[in-house]
Amino acid sequence: MVEERLTAALPEAQGNPGYFVHPLADCQCTRIGSGTRIWQFTVVLPGAVMGRNCNVNSHCLIENDVVLGHNVTIKCGNYLWDGLTLEDDVFVGPNVTFSNDKYPRSGRRPREFARTVVRRGASIGAGAVILPGITIGEGALVGAGAVVTKDVPAHVVVRGDYARVAPPAAAAPSAVAAASAAATSAAIQPAIPFLDLRSIQLECRDEMLAAFERVLNSGSYVLGGEVGGFESEFAEYCGAAHCVGVANGLDALTLALRALDVGPGDEVIVPSNTYIATWLAVSHVGATPVPVEPDPHTYNIDPARVAAAITPRTRVIMPVHLYGQAADLDPLLELARSHDLRVIEDGAQAHGARYRGQRLGRHGDAVAWSFYPGKNLGALGDGGAVTTSDAGLARRLRELRNYGSSVKYHNAVKGWNSRLDELQAAFLRAKLPRLDVGNRHRASIARRYLSAFADLPLVLPQVAAHADPVWHLFVVRHPQRDALARRLGSLGVGTMVHYPIAPHLQPAYASLQWPPGSLPISEALHAQVLSLPIGPTQTPDTTDQVIAAVRRAVAELA
Ligand SMILES: Cc1ncc(COP(=O)(O)O)c(C=O)c1O
Repeated sequence: MVEERLTAALPEAQGNPGYFVHPLADCQCTRIGSGTRIWQFTVVLPGAVMGRNCNVNSHCLIENDVVLGHNVTIKCGNYLWDGLTLEDDVFVGPNVTFSNDKYPRSGRRPREFARTVVRRGASIGAGAVILPGITIGEGALVGAGAVVTKDVPAHVVVRGDYARVAPPAAAAPSAVAAASAAATSAAIQPAIPFLDLRSIQLECRDEMLAAFERVLNSGSYVLGGEVGGFESEFAEYCGAAHCVGVANGLDALTLALRALDVGPGDEVIVPSNTYIATWLAVSHVGATPVPVEPDPHTYNIDPARVAAAITPRTRVIMPVHLYGQAADLDPLLELARSHDLRVIEDGAQAHGARYRGQRLGRHGDAVAWSFYPGKNLGALGDGGAVTTSDAGLARRLRELRNYGSSVKYHNAVKGWNSRLDELQAAFLRAKLPRLDVGNRHRASIARRYLSAFADLPLVLPQVAAHADPVWHLFVVRHPQRDALARRLGSLGVGTMVHYPIAPHLQPAYASLQWPPGSLPISEALHAQVLSLPIGPTQTPDTTDQVIAAVRRAVAELA
């Protein structure tokens, strides 16, 4: 269609060309509109068609079956192969690759072209790769370096490898110069992500692929050898006698409570500042969570306040090793012993952390773990486990996770289907050997942050003498937390808040009637905490950039 329109609109193709061809260009094509300019070392083959006022920079090749509309700009170094249409007002940045062969191979096989069409007003950033047969919609913007594998809708921004539609707020309907594409991308997604999960998983790509093959070839996909293997390896890592794999961290906590027969009428002491899963587990067995405020320096449950919260109904103390630092267990274990209570630890954020030199996993009656992908030991999906040194408890947990059954089709109790997935177990086995290396790397980043921020008006994490943390999160406090997060975002640094709303102020817990102001330490923390990037694959350069950005953002807020 464009071609017909252009051919009709090109009277100057005969006789006076009305267009400019640089003497060092080789233009074999005569179907060119007036005002079009073709620069040095560009070759245009005879069948190509170009409209008016196009600008084709140097070192380009325009093949026979290429159609350019009017006002098209082609920056240098572009090879436009057969089978390409660029409509009016299209902008193509330098070195874009338009591929045209659907099944490229060397040899004599006939080639199969698929036509690529770039609709009116679209812009393509430098170095983008456009697969054959793609249509880029009107006014769309393809970010520099994007790999476009699917049609791009009109008036959206796509970016990245592989390109995805950006959120609507970022979509710009127009021919924005390609140079701005990178800046647009940076605004949408910080240059430094809060956690680069992809690179963390790709670090063990080969081991993961081998793990997948093992499971695939095993013919056993639920509670097979991988779950058993991981349970032994993780129990050994934690120094616990038993590990029972379950579906996720919330189930690990819930089943541990069930296995101890905690239920309606019982109370469980929980930290007032934790991820809500700790509270939910208590609620899911029908018991009542009783919040206790944290030590304001370590953010972990304050043992000195726990005694006052114990009532005749209390059955369990449930400390959380928040942000990767062990809670102070000895006084809690002592309280539990003297009041005949049980201790279930929430270790979801603390794989490998030590309490008084000893790895977590066997101090309390049970320790619940999450293997959610972002955790220090994370799967490729959900996963969880309970470690314990109590054989009876482990047996109950195995039953509860599997329909209440230890012998197929014999159900001793009303259980759940909450088994650690066989594939996830295989992936976790691939990753477990790297856990300590990753934790040490996190600790080295934490040390750098602690010294680089020592002079700033920020509250920095404090490590208790009993703890050897694994820095699941590096959490600072600032009275203008949200403004700081915004400034860091605009400097390209991703941050998160763990957590913005205290569990007792969540609508889910309105019925417990802990009004605003009733747990002030926790509420103050929730208003001020900000988590900075930290992770096992974070490079020293990235850490430097985070440090520079934090220093700048804090100074700007002062
Ligand atoms: C402290 C804490 N407890 C429990 C959980 C629940 O784990 P999962 O997401 O695997 O259910 C999490 C997960 O974020 C957590 O951080």
